[in-house]
Amino acid sequence: MKAIVCTRYGPPDVLQFNYVTNPTPTENEVLIKLYAASVNPADMHLTRGKPFFLRLISGGLRAPKRKIPGHDIAGRVEAVGRNVTHFKPGDDVFGACRGAFAEYVCAQEDKLAPKPANSSFEDAAAMPVAALTALQGLRDKGRIHEGSKVLIDGASGGVGTFAIQIAKSFGAEVTAVCSTGKINTARSLGADHVIDYTQEDFTQSGQRYDLIVGVNAHHSIFNYRRALTNGGIYVAVGGGLPQIFQVMLLAPFLSRIGNKKTCFFIANINQKDLIFLKELMEAGKLVPVIDRRYPLREAAEAIRYLEKGHAQGKIVLTVDHSSGT
Ligand SMILES: NC(=O)c1ccc[n+]([C@@H]2O[C@H](COP(=O)([O-])OP(=O)(O)OC[C@H]3O[C@@H](n4cnc5c(N)ncnc54)[C@H](OP(=O)(O)O)[C@@H]3O)[C@@H](O)[C@H]2O)c1
Repeated sequence: MKAIVCTRYGPPDVLQFNYVTNPTPTENEVLIKLYAASVNPADMHLTRGKPFFLRLISGGLRAPKRKIPGHDIAGRVEAVGRNVTHFKPGDDVFGACRGAFAEYVCAQEDKLAPKPANSSFEDAAAMPVAALTALQGLRDKGRIHEGSKVLIDGASGGVGTFAIQIAKSFGAEVTAVCSTGKINTARSLGADHVIDYTQEDFTQSGQRYDLIVGVNAHHSIFNYRRALTNGGIYVAVGGGLPQIFQVMLLAPFLSRIGNKKTCFFIANINQKDLIFLKELMEAGKLVPVIDRRYPLREAAEAIRYLEKGHAQGKIVLTVDHSSGT
């Protein structure tokens, strides 16, 4: 099969489109013929090997340990391991696995769900990491409920466009923070209020929120906390490294002072939440925003675009098996 291969750390040019051995499923895995994958910031960080601590986590100090990048997938089941009970050949699925930028992938059964009935493979592949991050940040860490006043900082990228819609599905009053060119999209996704961060610093406005999700956090932890109501929660998802380190370092202490909470979390890929997203999509409450589509062979171009930091929604890679992708 063909796949995107990364044998050394560096800019997106290090990614090559090569022939590799087809994967074989273990007893708990599903072999999937891929039709679409999507790109996440983690893919660009793992390609560059930066920040350095990612090399420690991924186990590849000098060169990537796993040669095929990518996580988000949607495709059709080709074969299943002997312990797999939920899926059979011919089923259309979406979810996440390692080595997603390839014509065929193996994924653990518990990191997959049936593809939403009303979605394309591209829409389904856009969801897993970004939409699960939005869901778990809002519901599990942020304790969102009907009527919550929620602010999403970084509302126009992959995670943010899902976060607006998911927050609305919980009945929250949503304020989206994005740049001027993305205001209309944020409104069309359901945001009740939109703040253009190039014109206004919401942390200085005096407005208070029950929940702030720092999808692309560019303010200090102290400024985010100032904009919280009493009992409010600041959930840090991503953004600038200094801001993330600040949260990881200070959150445990600050959460003990007063009654405002701060936390950072890493999304957990699991079947239950994938099914939650599938049902939300089938109910018409979640529509992925896809900024650009690239054929699999142009994954380097897709990552180059993501690196610019201003994608509107998701970037999707498509796999056309009839034309050699
Ligand atoms: N914790 C986790 O488990 C987890 C999971 C997934 C992702 N993440 C992290 O979450 C972050 C967002 O991921 P993503 O997939 O949404 O990335 P993305 O699609 O690349 O997000 C880009 C968006 O960030 C916005 N942005 C850039 N500068 C901003 C600023 N100063 N203020 C507000 N928004 C700004 C841009 O909007 P404008 O064009 O309007 O500026 C753009 O739409 C990344 O840091 C990623 O590594 C964490």
